[in-house]
Amino acid sequence: MVLSTGTNRIKTAVFFSGTGSNLRSLIKFSKLKKSPIFINLIITNNKLAKGLKYGAIFKIKKKIIKFKNKDAAENKILNELKKNKIELICLAGFMKILSNNFTKNFKGKILNIHPSLLPKYKGLNTHQRAIENKDKYSGCTVHFVNSRLDSGKIIVQKKVRILKKDTPDSLAKKILAQEHKLYPKAILKIFSL
Ligand code: GAR
Repeated sequence: MVLSTGTNRIKTAVFFSGTGSNLRSLIKFSKLKKSPIFINLIITNNKLAKGLKYGAIFKIKKKIIKFKNKDAAENKILNELKKNKIELICLAGFMKILSNNFTKNFKGKILNIHPSLLPKYKGLNTHQRAIENKDKYSGCTVHFVNSRLDSGKIIVQKKVRILKKDTPDSLAKKILAQEHKLYPKAILKIFSL
């Protein structure tokens, strides 16, 4: 990926919709010496998202953008990204699908974390589907975002064992703990300084 790192870190925006535990882990990572990214902006479509608190705690600019009208919302976001000179977007539990029109503005510069071993279980309810199919493993994937849902080039994956006693909730917890390590690993892999 061609991005200007220079002495400055890559200006990054994180998009999220809910709890924001991946957002939190990315913020913590961004503060490490080895981190190639700086988080300049956080964006959510959900004014009740718990993750919004991290904007205040870590003093990061935040924007809440309603997705009632998708085109208008995406245009607003594009404006914000431009204003803040954002170079990289990390989707972290962002539960809206970005249009082709949006992603083409950031080709090769949008990452996503997904709670399954892609290409298995694109979309929602990944843990339930893995358990119902009696899979021995599930896991998580960080990938580039393209115009097709959960289909861009895979950067890194982490396998997690599914135990007989696992429920969708218990599996989600185990996988989420791995997601928090995997996203930073993916970023380091792409931008080896
Ligand atoms: C995470 O498990 C993430 O992988 C998933 O939502 C959760 C968000 O948790 N994302 C998707 O399902 C995207 N299709 P968080 O808000 O605590 O980071």
